Amino acid sequence: MQKKILMVCLGNICRSPLAEGILRKLTKEKGIAIEIDSAGMESFHVGEEPDSRTQKNARSHGLDLSSLRARQFHVDDFGRFDRIFVMDRFNYNQVKSLARSEDDIRKVKFILDTIYPGEGRSVPDPYMGGENGFEEVYQMLFKSCNKITEHLEAKTL
Ligand code: 4NP
Repeated sequence: MQKKILMVCLGNICRSPLAEGILRKLTKEKGIAIEIDSAGMESFHVGEEPDSRTQKNARSHGLDLSSLRARQFHVDDFGRFDRIFVMDRFNYNQVKSLARSEDDIRKVKFILDTIYPGEGRSVPDPYMGGENGFEEVYQMLFKSCNKITEHLEAKTL
C-alpha cells in the first residue's frame, strides 16, 4: 500500500514545505509511489507560498517549491496520513495534544529521529535568523529524507 506522509512545522512556509519538496524529489528518483503533504500548526501564513528565503535555498539545490501553499494542520490529518513528521518539540506537543487515540500518537515522530534515533532533536526555526540558517535546515532535512526514502524502499516505515 502506498504510504502517506505529512510534514509539520509551525508556519508551513519554511521547514515542512522544504521537507515535502526534498522527499518528493528523492522518492520520485527511486520510483517510489507515495503521497506527501505538509501543514503548519498556526494559521498566520495560510494560502502563502513558501518563504522567499526557503525557495531561494531550495532552488540552489534544484528544487522548485513555488506551487506549494501553506495550510493549517487539521485533526482529520491523523486519519489521512500513516506518518506525521514534526520539526520540533513545540510542534510535537501541539500535534500530540490534538491526537484522538494512542494510534494517532504513534504516527507522530520527530523528523530528526530518522538520523538521531530516540533523541527528539529539533530542526531549528530559520524564520527569524540569517541566510545560513536555511542551508543548515536544508542539510538536516536532506539527510532525514534520505533515511525516510531508504525506509520506504526497505518497507520499514
Ligand atoms: P516554519 O517557520 O515553521 O518552518 O514555517 C516559521 C514561519 C513563520 C513563523 C514562524 C516560523 N511566524 O512566526 O510567522
